[in-house]
Amino acid sequence: MTSRRFLTLGIESSCDDTAVAVLEDQATVLSSRISSQLELHAPYGGVVPELASRDHQERILPLVFSALSEAGVTDPGAELGLIGVTMGPGLMGSLMVGVMTAKALAQAWKVPLLGVNHLEGHLFANVIQNPGLQPPFLTLLVSGGHTEVILARAFGDYAILGCTRDDAAGEAYDKLAKVLGLGYPGGPVIDRLAAKGNPDAFSLPVPLAETSRVEFSFSGLKTASLNLIRQLEREGPLPVEDICASFQKAVVEALLKKVELAIQLTGVRRVAVSGGVAANSGLRRAFSGRKAWEVFIPPANLCTDNGVMVAAAAYHGYRRGKRTGLDFSPDPALELLSD
Ligand code: KG4
Ligand code: ZN
Repeated sequence: MTSRRFLTLGIESSCDDTAVAVLEDQATVLSSRISSQLELHAPYGGVVPELASRDHQERILPLVFSALSEAGVTDPGAELGLIGVTMGPGLMGSLMVGVMTAKALAQAWKVPLLGVNHLEGHLFANVIQNPGLQPPFLTLLVSGGHTEVILARAFGDYAILGCTRDDAAGEAYDKLAKVLGLGYPGGPVIDRLAAKGNPDAFSLPVPLAETSRVEFSFSGLKTASLNLIRQLEREGPLPVEDICASFQKAVVEALLKKVELAIQLTGVRRVAVSGGVAANSGLRRAFSGRKAWEVFIPPANLCTDNGVMVAAAAYHGYRRGKRTGLDFSPDPALELLSD
């Protein structure tokens, strides 16, 4: 091993995925392991926090050791330069499992530890994919818990330009899927069905889309979709694919419009999309089609929660001089703050 090789272990357990990765320097992924809890939560139509933390607790250490072994790390204390762990936002019980595991390993191996903001992690999925991506850029962060437009003036220097007033975009997908009996999470299945439907079949309203502020609202779209479904149910078999396509069109249009507004307001045309909903095929197509913008979207496996993004955010934070000792606490409502 050369002395220039810096290895970061990234640990993510903020919601329903246990994920561990080993990153070499800033963008070389040596291993990435994810244990998904989809089947565990599917019968409930959403994440059950108690079940999530119990499952993280069972899986996290075997996952750490398999990620290390795949990366060829045999002596973590000697070979790892840093451990990064998600410290928030997320579910408290889930976060605690990752944070306590990381603290114990850091202490045992005498490796520095850095608590990472999950949202900054999502942003760094773009950096992994495009190591040359340099601020300033806009980030559209769209996940199950967040819908935000952020101006990254520099790494570690963020301004939140706007967010959702109610539901996150992914949450709207999950809620619609629940109503349609499509299971959890709703995004991937609605995305698949939407591809077979007519996006112009039904006109669904997107609240706040026309305002001059960077802001979102998806709960009204959910209510409008519910009302449409009730009305269509009375008329015959539900045109599920058309409903999904029309819903997806409305969501993507709302996101596009507000990013467009953010570009007008800031003059920054470089747009990095991240978070689970960035895996959406309609969104990827629409954003990639914007010729006047420079658009970055990570591959789908880096859009949803993963350990690589946490390792990358930790690596960059550490290089910028960020430090957390062993006495920090997980914060379920952690905001994306600048250094
Ligand atoms: O980032 P993520 O894995 O977890 C959070 O931090 O929330 O995002 C999960 C969210 C879920 O709401 C899920 O339905 C949504 O991302 N999602 C999608 C797609 N894949 C995942 N939404 C739309 N289309 C997709 N293909
Ligand atoms: Zn996430």
